[in-house]
Amino acid sequence: MDEYRIEGGHRLQGSVRVQGAKNSALPILAACAVCRGISVIHNCPQLSDIDATINILRHLGCKVTVEGHTVTVDSTQINTGHVPDTLMQEMRSSVIFLGAIAARMGKASVSLPGGCEIGLRPIDLHLDALRKLGAVVTEEGGHIYLDCPEGMKGSVISLSFPSVGATENVLIAACTAKGTTTLVNAAREPEISDLADFLNRCGARITGAGEGIITIEGVSALHGAQHHVIPDRIVAASYMLAAAVTHGNVTLQNIIPAHLGPVTALLQEAGCDIRVHEKQLNISAPSQLKAMPTVRTMPYPGFPTDVQAPMMAACCIADGTTIVIETIFESRFRHVPELCRFGADILVDGRIAVVKGVNVLHAATVSAPDLRGGVALVLAGLAAQGQTTVRELQHIDRGYESLADELSRLGADIRRVKNEDGSKQENGNADLKE
Ligand code: EPZ
Repeated sequence: MDEYRIEGGHRLQGSVRVQGAKNSALPILAACAVCRGISVIHNCPQLSDIDATINILRHLGCKVTVEGHTVTVDSTQINTGHVPDTLMQEMRSSVIFLGAIAARMGKASVSLPGGCEIGLRPIDLHLDALRKLGAVVTEEGGHIYLDCPEGMKGSVISLSFPSVGATENVLIAACTAKGTTTLVNAAREPEISDLADFLNRCGARITGAGEGIITIEGVSALHGAQHHVIPDRIVAASYMLAAAVTHGNVTLQNIIPAHLGPVTALLQEAGCDIRVHEKQLNISAPSQLKAMPTVRTMPYPGFPTDVQAPMMAACCIADGTTIVIETIFESRFRHVPELCRFGADILVDGRIAVVKGVNVLHAATVSAPDLRGGVALVLAGLAAQGQTTVRELQHIDRGYESLADELSRLGADIRRVKNEDGSKQENGNADLKE
């Protein structure tokens, strides 16, 4: 497997164009399955999770072509409602196909996505919501079977938790339901609004996306459409934190500053100077970050759980103690033992981590435990003295396009190497091109 070799202590400077949002592109691509026509999705990041989603679309019968960051999906023909386990298990968020396939085919069968590194990831809210839309849902032998031969029927659905995935499944399934659906306590993440924008371009009638109550007026069918995926706010936050941990000065291009509110506020509290101008943001970090008293993850518009691990890396070298409270996922501190290998001082009790800033981190050999935990280890390596090795890069490849290339361009000393024989180093690009 590949690994990153990072020589820490280099101040990051320059500008980076932020990729399209993975967590917007995934549901939008899945939603193509309910559209009878050709959709062209621009600004799609080049990631393994996108590849997994395209594999499922092709299995369903869609013709999919990829040219750079543009994915064209011809879903005129869909000839199955079954997704094999092998494809479902490539990416747990494939559960987002449930609503699209059931709405299009009148039935769907997929394997239970199962948990992942950050938690059990139950889908009870998805299944209860799809039942409210008239689907008969059965679970047997680790598989889910949906049956709605008469199509979906509009309903009032209240989510006990503003689940992003459950909101997305309802949006997609309810577009062609008979009658109107009202979704109460819907997730408000920007990716929800982006999905709704795409579906409305396809002929759907969705209002209120981005608020807590969303109304979907059913239409008979959806056609294809062109769409430009919004920038990835989590990747943007990760680059802001790379600047913060290296006392750097970095400009982010192609972002939506309003999506970064809580991250910007916390980094300003830590002493960073952040200036926003239309679709770009400049962050200039102090030589020593001040500790932020509390980092509490919340559903949007609160502080994003996906930025908790990268933010914790910055807390490790701040002047003071930060209390990190992870309210969304039950097992999202797996980066803590790896950060402690750098000499970080972190105590965990349940969903609370007490991070006491230290003066210096020492390079370490660490393994990425999951996608965002992996990036936290890269940030720690950028700040640490000496040469850090980060393994298990497949986690990071799920969400960050050419991370080492981009960081190198900003002045980091980071290389992606193969470690089969422990010595062979890739020349050229810092990021290995498969
Ligand atoms: C989406 O996951 C994102 N993934 C996650 O990003 C993100 O962390 C999460 O939203 C929260 O913002 C994608 O968009 C592909 P949820 P999702 O349903 O939809 C519980 C990343 O790093 N829950 O809002 O799975 C669940 O266990 C990933 O890019 C139920 O109990 O998140 C969790 O505790 C990680 N029952 C909480 O709700 C359900 O039926 C939030 O889950 C569904 C969820």
